[in-house]
Amino acid sequence: MTRAIADPPSADVLPRGLEGVAVAATSVSDVDGIAGFYHYRGVDPTTIARTGTFEDAWYLLHYGELPSSNERNDFAARIRAAMTMPPVLGDTLPSLAALGPPGSMDVLRTAVSAAGVAIGCRPWTEQDHESTEVQIFTIAALGPRVRAALYRLARGREPVDPSPGLDFAANYLWMIHGVVPDATRVRALETYLVLAADHGFCNSTFAERVIASSGADVGAALSGAIGALSGPLHGGAIDRVPSMLAAIGDTSRVERWMRDRLDRGERLMGFGHAVYRTLDPRNTVLREVARGIGGERVALAEVVERTGIVLLNERKTDKRREANVELYAGVVLDYAGVPEELFACTFPVARMAGWTANLLEQLADNRIFRPAAQYVGREPR
Ligand code: ACO
Repeated sequence: MTRAIADPPSADVLPRGLEGVAVAATSVSDVDGIAGFYHYRGVDPTTIARTGTFEDAWYLLHYGELPSSNERNDFAARIRAAMTMPPVLGDTLPSLAALGPPGSMDVLRTAVSAAGVAIGCRPWTEQDHESTEVQIFTIAALGPRVRAALYRLARGREPVDPSPGLDFAANYLWMIHGVVPDATRVRALETYLVLAADHGFCNSTFAERVIASSGADVGAALSGAIGALSGPLHGGAIDRVPSMLAAIGDTSRVERWMRDRLDRGERLMGFGHAVYRTLDPRNTVLREVARGIGGERVALAEVVERTGIVLLNERKTDKRREANVELYAGVVLDYAGVPEELFACTFPVARMAGWTANLLEQLADNRIFRPAAQYVGREPR
């Protein structure tokens, strides 16, 4: 339906936050919030998470099919090659590490923006598509390299180059610690990375596609996506769950603590979702992994989960609210050997896979996003 510009649709007819409004067509991934199911190009990511690799998920999102074993190996080699640090970016990293907490998404967002400039990103509408594709892939692959280097530099250690013998998840841990990681730890990280690789038209994906739709360079789009993801209501919750568990401290304090928080009008981190009205399948898999890890923190997280669901649903009955992907993510990442200060910026390590696929989809059939707002201010004077 077309409308005259002088007659924009009223904001009253749209749900706040565009909840449930389809603003684009995509074939990358989808979330069914009622069934509690999501998929990457038709494939259930929870199956890949249990048995496959992060390269499988990224390849699937990128090309639309799961890779053969040879294709997976070639793709892994291509990612490693794209991790080569541009010298000018390497020289800039010590200053970036000094800007603020090197594991924060804020510093990462700035570093990704710097990476885009360093590799010569230009408006994609003014360069050939092949250059744009290379730039998208390079920024995504540089992500874990940059994160690990910033973390080490902040501790006065030299960055570690990626190992030619390791795949993506193992290489991430290798570049953080400089030690070949244990296979069970890599498996835990891999599970998280696969589950978090994409998730429909979420806030950060929408933000990324809005930025790219103006022809802005892909460094701008990917750093903008990290900016959106960093908010506490979106990916920033991953950081706040471990501090919530630490503040609660003990199973005997769970209900009081959570009730107090809700009474103050504050949110319970790791609960609720804009789309899911039933169990978040990512949470189900991560809870399984957490149970395998065991220990007091997992036991506490399980009581927190049960209590939070009861409290949230007794206060508001309009729709069902459950725990989300973030509740057990910290426990799993901690077991995998990711330092707590890198939890937040490990989320975009994974999500780069989905963002890159979405970016390519946006570029393939672009129209600038330019919605309208209903003006409710003073009359023209
Ligand atoms: N704690 C307390 N109250 C909540 C929570 C929560 N975690 N989630 C929903 N509610 C209540 C609030 O009262 C809210 O009403 P208000 O806006 O008037 O305060 C109402 O339910 C909103 O309900 P929904 O429509 O179900 O949720 P919405 O789409 O507005 O928000 C969101 C979804 C942002 C994820 C929310 O549930 C939240 O803030 N959760 C905590 C942060 C979090 O864990 N984010 C990670 C999400 S997963 C991800 O992005 C990767």
